[in-house]
Amino acid sequence: MTNFIFQNPVKMIFGCGQIRMAGKEAMKLGKRCLIVTGKGSAKKTGVFSRIFEMLKKEGIQISELPGIDPNPRINHVIQGAEICKKEKIEFLIGLGGGSVMDCTKAISAAVFYPLHPWEMVLSCNGGKHSLPSRALPKMMIPTIAATGSEMNAGSVITNPDTTEKLFFVAQCMYPEVTIADPELTATVPPDQTAYGISDIMAHVTESYFTDPAHNPLQDRWVESVLHIMREFGKRAVVNGGDIEARTQIQWASIAALNGWIQAGVKKGFPVHVIEHALSAHYDIAHGAGLSIINPAWMKFSVKHIRDKLCQMGSRVFSLDECREPDDKNAFKAVSAFETFLNIIGSPTRLSKCGIRSTKFERIADDIIRLAGNEKGFLYGRPDLSKDDIIRILEMAA
Ligand code: NZQ
Ligand code: ZN
Repeated sequence: MTNFIFQNPVKMIFGCGQIRMAGKEAMKLGKRCLIVTGKGSAKKTGVFSRIFEMLKKEGIQISELPGIDPNPRINHVIQGAEICKKEKIEFLIGLGGGSVMDCTKAISAAVFYPLHPWEMVLSCNGGKHSLPSRALPKMMIPTIAATGSEMNAGSVITNPDTTEKLFFVAQCMYPEVTIADPELTATVPPDQTAYGISDIMAHVTESYFTDPAHNPLQDRWVESVLHIMREFGKRAVVNGGDIEARTQIQWASIAALNGWIQAGVKKGFPVHVIEHALSAHYDIAHGAGLSIINPAWMKFSVKHIRDKLCQMGSRVFSLDECREPDDKNAFKAVSAFETFLNIIGSPTRLSKCGIRSTKFERIADDIIRLAGNEKGFLYGRPDLSKDDIIRILEMAA
């Protein structure tokens, strides 16, 4: 494994009913709060009013920024930062999915960033300016199990003017505290539940199929997360109110991207980079895009990750033949992975989302321009050229 520094400062309050701690925890962060929410689910499920009442009881002044889009846009980051300055906000609460949490984190840093907030996003993507170094404190209250944003320092923001959707990460964007209450995820509809599961699986497979190839402890963690998805994924999709399944999936979603599994391995995340470019152009759900690209990427990369695919086939999908690694068995492992995604109802072809090949070249160009190295390749195992990316998109068509 490679050397690493791991420092994750998030206070994680996890479990059913833990939402009751929101008021007391909020009080520790300040007296003037901005609550950021999505397009309506937080109000519909009643969680917004529960939190509102808890904050009021503690004498906290509340401002609101509702309406954050899935695949959150830079305009909401700008609007949120303006509200924070005008209302002298002392802390933020991100109440919703990854989109709401990412937007909240970006707002918290944009408040102090001296330049246009898009420069802050570009700072991690070949931009000229420095990363944000200061942010307002924030609490995350996730209502869907998917991104792990509640326990990491990353944020993914879209700029519709340039058709770019980019991940950026800064230490100051770690939430101070997260309350992850699996009961809040019981209302997530089956399709979004499945996309969340696909996202969780992709977070760990990106770290499994990277360099160095041999990481015994990391491998077992990844395989455990995949096992949990197999064991509880369908249960949560079929019966949203299955709280045991919701609990296992949510804890796994946090473990999948809080930095623990990524420690000691290279962080290329090529499947994510391709998916972000895809959803920048087509505004599809992140997890749906991943369940389309991930199997196609695995098939494309078989020659480079054959042994590891077979390890996944044998340890996760109980394919006995995969104990003898060869190309044929590696493809069987991919097929088992893809079949599971189909079983839970996540798409594995672009055509299922109505996407045709017209923009493949443009998407591949964007990826190499924004994420390619000096030789014009996207890092991964293997490194990908523009033509390789087009080929993967064609394989996913
Ligand atoms: O907008 P509302 O009305 O809240 O509805 C949402 C939305 O339609 C709904 N939902 C959420 N909780 C619900 C609920 N519906 C009913 N009951 C509930 N309890 O679910 C839909 C999807 O929400 P969204 O936040 O978009 O989903 P997700 O959590 O998958 O987040 C996706 C975003 O996160 C980024 C993605 O690129 C995408 O922009 N990512 C962030 C990462 C990070 N910060 O570390 C890493 C990821 O790889 C990912 O890129
Ligand atoms: Zn993801």
